[in-house]
Amino acid sequence: MADDAFVPAATEWYHPSKDIVRHAVIKDYDAVYQEAMQDIEAFWAKRAKTLDWFRRWDKVLDASNAPFYKWFVGGKTNIVLNALDRHVKTWRRNKLAFIWEGENGDKVSMSYWRLWQEVNKFANVLRSMGVKKGDRVTIYMGRILELPIAMLACAKIGAPHSVVYGGFSEQALADRIEDAQSRLLITCDGAWLRGKIVPLKQVVDEAIHRSPVVDRVIVVKRTGQDINMEQGRDYWYHELMSLPIASTKAETEVMDSEDPLFILYTSGTTGKPKGILHTHGGYQVYTSTTLQWAFDLKDEDRWWCAADPGWITGHSYIVYAPLILGATSIIYEGAPNFPYPDRWWRIVEEYGVTILYTAPTAIRGLMRFGEAWPGRHDLSSLRLLGTVGEPINPEAWRWYHHVIGKDKCPVIDTWWQTETGGFMITPLPTVGLKPGSATRPFPGIKVDVVDDDGNSCAAGEEGNLVIQGPWPAMLRTVYKDDQRFLNQYWTRYSKQGWYLTGDSARKDADGYFWIIGRNDDVIKVSGYRLGTAEVESGLVSHPAVAESAVIAVPDEVKGSVIYAYCILRAGFSGSLALSDELKAHIRHEVGPIAVPEKIEFVPNLPKTRSGKIMRRVLKARAQGLPEGDISTLEE
Ligand code: WT7
Repeated sequence: MADDAFVPAATEWYHPSKDIVRHAVIKDYDAVYQEAMQDIEAFWAKRAKTLDWFRRWDKVLDASNAPFYKWFVGGKTNIVLNALDRHVKTWRRNKLAFIWEGENGDKVSMSYWRLWQEVNKFANVLRSMGVKKGDRVTIYMGRILELPIAMLACAKIGAPHSVVYGGFSEQALADRIEDAQSRLLITCDGAWLRGKIVPLKQVVDEAIHRSPVVDRVIVVKRTGQDINMEQGRDYWYHELMSLPIASTKAETEVMDSEDPLFILYTSGTTGKPKGILHTHGGYQVYTSTTLQWAFDLKDEDRWWCAADPGWITGHSYIVYAPLILGATSIIYEGAPNFPYPDRWWRIVEEYGVTILYTAPTAIRGLMRFGEAWPGRHDLSSLRLLGTVGEPINPEAWRWYHHVIGKDKCPVIDTWWQTETGGFMITPLPTVGLKPGSATRPFPGIKVDVVDDDGNSCAAGEEGNLVIQGPWPAMLRTVYKDDQRFLNQYWTRYSKQGWYLTGDSARKDADGYFWIIGRNDDVIKVSGYRLGTAEVESGLVSHPAVAESAVIAVPDEVKGSVIYAYCILRAGFSGSLALSDELKAHIRHEVGPIAVPEKIEFVPNLPKTRSGKIMRRVLKARAQGLPEGDISTLEE
């Protein structure tokens, strides 16, 4: 419901139980927040000291070239040193790192010891194939354990990974390969989704055809159907892993704090996706602290972040932070409602999940099936719930809290972005909650809602959400595009030196933040971030379409859905068949998540005199709302 502003219900408060407070690692939010604000560097240094470093930093924060901030300057580390290497020296070597369940019923439980060995083996394979520190590796896989293994192996040898979500198609993958210039790609033959095989390797073949940068492909066998294996280019993972070269001992590359850990592409306002760059040092400190404090993660927990590792949520909170904390995580392949709408509730019961973290769109989707499905399962192991990706409507919040959490689990609504690396606005379990509000900033983070001149907005007034100071997991740049990094995030409030989030929000009288949604041409469908331009350029790549405009319209389950308006080329006429054909085209070119709900053929589009499409007008029309100020309209 990205476009709806939720009216804060001032009277609706939820307070944590005594049990929650007793258990919580941070009991007094205000005290810790103040401590952090008094000396931000001392605060983060203290957190960083809980981790292992090959060499400690000389300086916590270097702001001399802001906004190109540097954290833990002079420090030598590697995120794998903290995620794996240090655990295998302790009792945790016998602890489960991952519990995995495939859609077809396959199950794997993997200890830290075994995960460490698999990562070492694969690191050796990658090294033997010539991958060196600094080389970018693209990963395009389903939700199987080889995905985190591949990510960790890349990190271990200092090769930044670029994970492309398996729901993207040819062109999206080709663009990302091209931008990262990665010569090696890791994939699988296919992935199981709702009883069908998603043909990942086939997409890879086509993407490489379009971006012939890749000269080596490693393929994990998951679904087992016949696939094309190109001689001299494609290698089976299991064959490489059984070679003598794949020994279980591998050196962890010594990385500078500021050396790149990964690139993750995300949608921006223009067609070209942005490669968000994160580094080893600050990211490991920030993601592990935020997870430990916001979700009170303990050794005895079973943590389930039900996102996909292909998104930032999965990078930070399925792979890196849980492993750094030595936690046991659940990973599942498939969908929440297949084969039945109780897949998730069955998983919670079977594995004794204690903390579940998901997105509003999934909650709304499961809500539709009614209370009987969760009612068939014992969900009493749950003690905390979480949500992320878009504003959660209070109705879904209450359902989650009541039906899933039995009124005893605080709902941790975490606001953050691919760019921020970790949670920015989030309750800690001891903070009072208001449904629909992500509550207050994490300790060490200063945020505000401001007008275009940078004045703080009055309580209840809508404005731009800004972050007023650096934090350790902040993006370091847009890969190979410093200018875009500056323009996108730092130019609007360059005088003040604030980071522009691109979200509009309100702050209420209690200092609680209410996110309204994006105020640029970015849309959120089922919590996934897409640029209108990505869908539009997909549409115009079809021979029938001359021009197109794409908007997001509020939807009860998905948050928003895509409406596309197309002007056809001469000789084509609009029909249901053409609309279906265009949908199939988008599914193929951009990916299933980008498929418009509705395609309308129009003779022209509302534009400003300078030729900019007025999506605002299209949006109003689509919802039957007043069109507002159209004085600049030239249709
Ligand atoms: C955008 C970032 C961060 C992980 C997933 C999304 C929206 C994110 C919330 C929330 C309201 C939220 C914002 C933000 N968003 N979390 N708890 N409440 N809105 O990462 O794809 O980079 O998208 O998601 O609009 O800017 P992303």
